[in-house]
Amino acid sequence: MKFFFVFFALWVVASCGEKLPQFSYEPVPYDLGVPFFPDSLNIPKDNPMTVDGVRLGRYLFYDGRLSGNPDKPMSCATCHKQEHSFECGMEQFPDGRPIGNSGKKTPNVMLPFVNLVWNNNGYFWNGFIDKNKGKNIETTVPMAITAPHEMDGHVENAVKMIKKDKFYRELFYKAFGTTEVNIDLISKAIAQFVRSLVSFNSRFDRFMAGEVQLTKSEMRGLMLFTTEGADCFHCHGSPALPLWTTNLFMNNAKDIDFEGQNDRSKVTGNPMDKGKYRVPTLRNIEFTAPYMHDGRFKTLDEVLDFYNNGLRRSPYIDPLSINTNHGGMHLSDRDLADLKAFLLTLSDTAFISDRRFSNPW
Ligand code: HEC
Ligand code: HEC
Repeated sequence: MKFFFVFFALWVVASCGEKLPQFSYEPVPYDLGVPFFPDSLNIPKDNPMTVDGVRLGRYLFYDGRLSGNPDKPMSCATCHKQEHSFECGMEQFPDGRPIGNSGKKTPNVMLPFVNLVWNNNGYFWNGFIDKNKGKNIETTVPMAITAPHEMDGHVENAVKMIKKDKFYRELFYKAFGTTEVNIDLISKAIAQFVRSLVSFNSRFDRFMAGEVQLTKSEMRGLMLFTTEGADCFHCHGSPALPLWTTNLFMNNAKDIDFEGQNDRSKVTGNPMDKGKYRVPTLRNIEFTAPYMHDGRFKTLDEVLDFYNNGLRRSPYIDPLSINTNHGGMHLSDRDLADLKAFLLTLSDTAFISDRRFSNPW
């Protein structure tokens, strides 16, 4: 009893000395606001999305101090730009590969941030960020900070710079119930923001909801896409899969030589995975040139021309790639124009101008 009293008295003294934060911690679950998507959500149990977690993540995503180097500020948004569906575009980087703080280019072109919360199959072109191997979007934050072809910085410096700004104290407290700033919480918040980037307001979505009509040409393009006519649906999905990707790893018959490629086989060790890459979403494809992991095609016309006449046989092509045997789809010019018209209905202009996703500073 005596012991308890002494302990209690010490506790009172200790807690008077330390100022308790005047902010409150009342986490409110974040609502993705999506009417219906078929795939299951990839949200780790130890990082549930909350309104304040996403809010903090948004500030950090756009904060150049994350490089930890005042002379060379760089944020995720330096490369992941909203107007390009969170790719970098070609204005600043004509070959589509951004240049990191060390002056090195990224090895591949970018991937868009759109509906990543529904991908359970691995991130990056070859899928090496895989939740089954304990890696997720959270993992990419310290990677981006340290990679020479990205921020080329040090995690400790980045944390120090963020910690210095008193503005963040309240944001961290509201998001995680602590004013402690560390790389784990920074990564969690940014991952929450990236998961909040959902798109479901393209013209095609509105067509599916019965709100708009498609033109004849767009309808013909849809038919070609979803049948063996153009055979895109095997890999890129169909209206039943509104992600417009299966998120599978496929070889789409571009190459016969796979020497030096950082493809799926480098992750699995399986030689049959040579030339395989994660099938990218076609949602917002209008905004994300150049195309393919190496950016070899600058326009959608070049991509369609490739699928029409340029498919090449190798032992590694997918059996699903049914047009490979004859070198391509061999569609008419009119068919190609229709296919392109359909692809353009997948653009979500509301998404690329949505203020909830823009720079909050
Ligand atoms: C210098 C440019 C650059 C910066 C800065 C950058 N990234 Fe990236 N990011 C890329 C490139 C390029 C890829 C594609 C990498 C690949 O698969 O080869 C990518 C891919 C990703 C992916 C995988 C997307 C997918 O669909 O698989 C995630 C997640 C990601 N980045 C998160 C971040 C975060 C978070 C930050 C900030 C902490 C960041 N990136 C900063 C260039 C950048
Ligand atoms: C066998 C599977 C498969 C089929 C069939 C297929 N694709 Fe692809 N597609 C892929 C893969 C895999 C990639 C990425 C390849 C890479 O980066 O090396 C890709 C990339 C693309 C890209 C570039 C995306 C980007 O962000 O860079 C477009 C556009 C595209 N495909 C459209 C189509 C269209 C249109 C069709 C039908 C004519 C089609 N694809 C058929 C697997 C396929």
